[in-house]
This record gives sequence, C-alpha cells and structure tokens, in this order.
Amino acid sequence: MLTQEIIRTKRDGGKLEPADIAAFVRGLTDGSVTEGQVAALAMAIFFQGMSREEAVALTLSMRDSGEVLSWPELDRPVVDKHSTGGVGDNVSLMLAPIAAACGLAVPMISGRGLGHTGGTLDKMESIPGYTAMPDNALFRRVVGSAGCAIIGQTGNLAPADKRFYGIRDVTATVESVPLITASILSKKLAAGLGALVLDVKCGNGAFMDNPDRALELARSLVEVAVGAGMPTTALVTDMNQPLASAAGNAVEVTNAADFLTGAARDSRLQEVTLALAAEMLVSGGLVAGPDEGRARALAALEDGSAAETFDRMVRELGGPKDFLADPGRHLDSAPVVADCLAGRDGYVTGYDTRGIGLCVVALGGGRTRPGDPVDHAVGLTGLLPIGARVEKDTAIALVHARDDNQLAAARDQLRLAVRIGDAPPKPSQVILSRQD
Ligand code: URA
Repeated sequence: MLTQEIIRTKRDGGKLEPADIAAFVRGLTDGSVTEGQVAALAMAIFFQGMSREEAVALTLSMRDSGEVLSWPELDRPVVDKHSTGGVGDNVSLMLAPIAAACGLAVPMISGRGLGHTGGTLDKMESIPGYTAMPDNALFRRVVGSAGCAIIGQTGNLAPADKRFYGIRDVTATVESVPLITASILSKKLAAGLGALVLDVKCGNGAFMDNPDRALELARSLVEVAVGAGMPTTALVTDMNQPLASAAGNAVEVTNAADFLTGAARDSRLQEVTLALAAEMLVSGGLVAGPDEGRARALAALEDGSAAETFDRMVRELGGPKDFLADPGRHLDSAPVVADCLAGRDGYVTGYDTRGIGLCVVALGGGRTRPGDPVDHAVGLTGLLPIGARVEKDTAIALVHARDDNQLAAARDQLRLAVRIGDAPPKPSQVILSRQD
C-alpha cells in the first residue's frame, strides 16, 4: 500500500495490516517516508488508536529496524525494568544491582532526562570516569561479570523509534497509548530481554496523571509485550510527590548510595524498589512468589551484596574503584547549599511534583532540548514526604545551586510546588495496582 493510503486508512478508522505497518517502519528508518507523512500517521493514530494486533506489529517492526541483542553466553535469566518516568525516581540505581546480586542479568539501557523528569543516564554520568556509552564488547563483559550494567542507548537499537519519537515530540503526538507502548517496548525487545517489569508512574509528576489513563497504559504495555513474546508485568505507582527525598543528578546518586549501604533509606522509595525487585525475581523464575522475592531482595541489601555489585559495575565501567566507600569524595557538589523554609506551621499536604522537576531543570539539572548539557551538582535534597509536620522555620528542602540568583528562584518555585495546610492529609498508597 502507498504511504498515503496507509495514512488514509488509519485516518478513517480502518485497521492496518502487519505488512503495511512493516513497510511504513522501513520507510521511517531509511528516510523514504517524509517527516510530513510520519507526522500525519502519528496524528491519525493519536485520534483513531490502534488494535492490540496493530500495536504488536508496530512494536515488532520497530524492534527489527536495527540491531537485536541476544545473550547466549549468560547462564542467568535476563530481566530488566522500565519506568515511564518521574521526579526523584532513582529506583534503577538500586534495583539493577539488587536484582543482579540475587542472580539475574540486568542489561539496563536507560535514557536521559527530558522535560521535567530525570534520566538515569544523566545520574550515572555524574560519577567521574563512568562510561555510560560503552561499546558492545564492554557492555556485554560488564553484564557478564557484575551481573548488571546501566548504560545509554548505544549504536543501532530500534533506530525507527528514534526518528518517530523526534517527530512525535514536535507534533504533539507523544501522548498516545499505542505509540508510547510501541516506543518503549521496541527498545526493550531489541535489548534481548527474557522478561520485563514496568513501573508505570501515575500522578502530577508523571506522563499519566490520572489513574484510568495510567491503568490503560499499563494494560497496553503488558498485553503488547506478551503479544510480542516477552513476559511482562507492571506496577502502577504513585508520582504525586517525589519518590526519593532528593531530585537532581549527583544528589540522587548520593541518595542511592546511602540506600545501598544502609546509611539512609527513604521509605516510599524502599517500598517501590523492593516490590519491583520481587516482580523481576518472580519473572526470572528465581523465586516462587513476591514475598520470597522481596525477602531475597532485602537480604541482598542487608548482606552488602547489592552494594558490592553496584561498586563492581561502576569500577568495570571506568568509575572509581571504591565509589560507595565515600561517594562525596567523587561527586561534584554545588557551591551554594541553603535551605528553603516552610514559612508557616502545618503539614505538607501535597506537591506539584512537575513543579519540583521543573525547579531542578531551572537550576540546570535537567534539559529543555535534547543534547543540552546538564549540571550534575545542582538539585534538591531533604524533600519532606506528604504528611510531614512542619513549623515556620522547618526546612522543606535543601537547594543545591550554582549561585545566589538560582537559589532565590528555586526557593520561590519550591514554595509554590509544596502545599502546606492546617490538617494532616489522609495517608496514601505508593503501589496503586498490578497488571499481568
Ligand atoms: N518513553 C519512550 O521511550 N517513548 C515514549 O513514547 C514515551 C516515553
């Protein structure tokens, strides 16, 4: 079918055949389908949606647009996690070494921050010497020896998605459930995983701010992944406040280091990390059920094996030899560190979580355009959880800034983003639902 006929079929609510989808993806990859045609089809899909069969066909075609990895040399189950993105979401930094210490192989290909959300890759790059974009041989070697490697999207994995996403980004067609589904899963399938666990964030700091939409995305991701042959489960988790008490790059690495060594663990972060670890261990067939998985994950934290795994991964990817012994010695720190006071007595009743993410971006810790550099040192720490009791002069956070002007602007943004009321709010769940 001609490309314009493919677009017309979808525009009119028709169903596309796998062969038509494959032809479109070939043109998307080799450039023979124009940017205008890609944008038109994206908009048609945005309004008309896709059946599960169409979404599976799109996912598989995008997977096959580049290199597809496999891991025949590993004798461990290969399992990864993907988060749809949030604020203070440094789960991957703990989860990958926990899962690896429990016996999984975790080739974690992660992304950079864009918009108000942070990116795992930017966080890892705040560790001096860390090779976030290794060649294939080093990547495979580290997954084999340490059990996990957190790296960026290298080479030629799902190149069709790269072009498609870039065009969706500038044509207001990102927020389409089948397109998000195919985009995420094509990259995960290309990484050669045996199973996948998804953390679908829901709330005012997430892509999907309402529970129905988050559930719709979770269902689509799980059904399409299973349809494409990759066993997958999803947890829908709360993103109505930052997950960690830190938001930024080096500050989130420090928070993760404290978590791994046991120096400090934010409780909601611990709940999500252990639940996802349990899902991964069940999916990999290493435990019989989530309770056993959680206990194994906790044991790997308590006996230091997860911390050892993290250190080994960092060392083998070119970072410091004993990073966790003293992370502060290695990480860049901001010249201005000062608190932001509550300004009144009461309770933290809620967050504009996106506002917190945008505050980090304004400090220089995130980017507004792909390719912009980020300042690894800036960010926020000591963010209070919803429900915390505060007095007028209680710090609601510490701001890590480059200069006093940034500090003043961040304080203003923070006061707008943290809501303080007279009465304590009702406690809320962090894990909202599970999809399999
Ligand atoms: N993340 C992705 O990788 N793709 C999307 O379309 C949305 C989020």
